[in-house]
Amino acid sequence: MTRLPPPTKCVDLFGDASTVCVQRAEHKGEELLDLMLDLDLQMFAEPSYPRPTLSALVRFGEVFVLKQADELWGAAVVLRHMRRPQAAVMLSIGIHPGWRGAGLGRFFIESIAMQLANEQDFDELVLEVAEDNWRANKLYASMGFVGLGSQNGKRSWSLDLSRWMRPDDGADGDAPVLRELSAS
Ligand SMILES: CC(C)(COP(=O)(O)OP(=O)(O)OC[C@H]1O[C@@H](n2cnc3c(N)ncnc32)[C@H](O)[C@@H]1OP(=O)(O)O)[C@@H](O)C(=O)NCCC(=O)NCCS
Repeated sequence: MTRLPPPTKCVDLFGDASTVCVQRAEHKGEELLDLMLDLDLQMFAEPSYPRPTLSALVRFGEVFVLKQADELWGAAVVLRHMRRPQAAVMLSIGIHPGWRGAGLGRFFIESIAMQLANEQDFDELVLEVAEDNWRANKLYASMGFVGLGSQNGKRSWSLDLSRWMRPDDGADGDAPVLRELSAS
């Protein structure tokens, strides 16, 4: 099956043309790093990674951003799994606190899954999250991630990306269609 690039995915969140889009970050400079560190601090009490570590992750990983105009509303870093090259490891996924609970987290991860399945070689998306992060765990379970067990207070999840591949005739087939958001 040929992997076709999915269309650029944007939603008109409030029906007022203030479109929110998921993109791969093309320019991975200091400005992006500053934005990601800022977003990280808004999400967690302490930074998830020190600046040099995040800098390396950004440099060597794929950064996906959720943007409204020039504002960063979400970010995620994806790296290739060391032992399983067909698996993508998602780190540091987050939505700006002011925009949570509106369906953007689901939209963001679905868009990333579509891009990983159709534009790249990946057939699995794995991630880890704190067991007590009920919001994230609920989201992953409802999206079809399969639990791989828990260790040291963290739960591992795996998403089969073959479900997200478009058939080579360009039709959507059984592939899930990204849900459009409505203002709520
Ligand atoms: C986890 C996170 C990415 C989810 O993004 P989000 O935009 O808030 O999630 P969504 O609005 O897409 O909600 C998706 C699901 O989460 C659950 N959810 C989200 N907000 C909720 C709320 N306020 N109350 C109850 N359930 C909620 C629901 O199950 C929802 O499912 P639904 O689509 O059937 O309603 C976001 O909350 C976040 O950035 N958290 C901080 C960082 C983090 O914890 N990252 C993950 C671990 S690294």
